[in-house]
Amino acid sequence: MNGSDQPAITSENLTRDFGRFRAVDSVNLRVDRGTIYGLLGANGAGKSTTIRMLCGLLKPTAGEAHVAGCSITGDPEGVKRSIGYMSQKFSLYEDLTVDENIEFFGGVYGLDKKTLKERRDWVIDMAGLSGREKSLTAELSGGWKQRLALGCAILHSPGIVFLDEPTGGVDPVSRRRFWDLINRLVRNGTTVLVTTHYLDEAEYCDTITLMHAGRIIAEGSPARLKEEHIKTATLEVECDNVIEAMECLQNDDRIDETTVFGTYLHVNSSHDQPESLVRSLLEGKGIQVHRIDTIVPSLEDVFIHLIEKQIREPRGRG
Ligand SMILES: Nc1ncnc2c1ncn2[C@@H]1O[C@H](COP(=O)(O)OP(=O)(O)OP(=O)(O)O)[C@@H](O)[C@H]1O
Ligand SMILES: [Mg+2]
Repeated sequence: MNGSDQPAITSENLTRDFGRFRAVDSVNLRVDRGTIYGLLGANGAGKSTTIRMLCGLLKPTAGEAHVAGCSITGDPEGVKRSIGYMSQKFSLYEDLTVDENIEFFGGVYGLDKKTLKERRDWVIDMAGLSGREKSLTAELSGGWKQRLALGCAILHSPGIVFLDEPTGGVDPVSRRRFWDLINRLVRNGTTVLVTTHYLDEAEYCDTITLMHAGRIIAEGSPARLKEEHIKTATLEVECDNVIEAMECLQNDDRIDETTVFGTYLHVNSSHDQPESLVRSLLEGKGIQVHRIDTIVPSLEDVFIHLIEKQIREPRGRG
């Protein structure tokens, strides 16, 4: 019944209300085994609520999902046994040592002594915590704490792992190291569903889903999303008075979209000579242009485009 070609996770119209507020609205998703699935979206989009339902921790108001072949409504305990979950607020006990935390989670998962010893050694090695087994968890830096939390979430070697913003507030080197660990797990057949606000991390995912106001507004591989949603040339423009320049471009019908990226502008236009159009518009306003390059759009471009479109035309699919 649990054939390996069956997806690790599927959901059908998964919905959750809090009072009269719909936090998750008819979410349909499918996560193939051994892949990394990224759930993205602004604060409050419904990512954590979706994850908590998929982990069997929160009942849906409507809809259904299957995780590792178990129904989240019919067999939430079966779901919990098959998964690892790293919640958005780390679930570690700050006043316990590293070893004590591992032992505690080993007890929760019902590991026997021998397995716990093996898995404990594996976690210490994986998290780079050798020599810190007796340190208080509260005294660990963010990167270590995060790797320990991951280790505790997967002590029982689950086939599916849910990571809810695992890298929030962690430095870039630790983030990279954390992703090396995730990639190692996935190479060994684990399925990972992860939420993040870092779009460089989203590029590591096989599939990403963008949520907005409880609904899925786009889904696909990073490359496909870029191809599908940004059809016009994207220009990066370095010029004086960025804000004034943006207003000037936004007022012209031949320009589709203008966004400020740091000290540059990203401009989309389907005009056949977009560079000279932008240059002449800006110079016509007395704004000095230093550089215009055609660039490959980033996921950030794609998401800003999709979310702005959603705000302009709510309820339409992206
Ligand atoms: N227990 C609850 N009671 C009432 N409202 C809730 C509850 N849990 C979540 N919500 C609301 O549901 C919406 C979705 O919240 P959720 O935590 O799923 O978002 P998120 O995408 O994970 O956001 P973030 O990126 O900030 O973590 C928010 O508006 C939130 O305030
Ligand atoms: Mg969240």
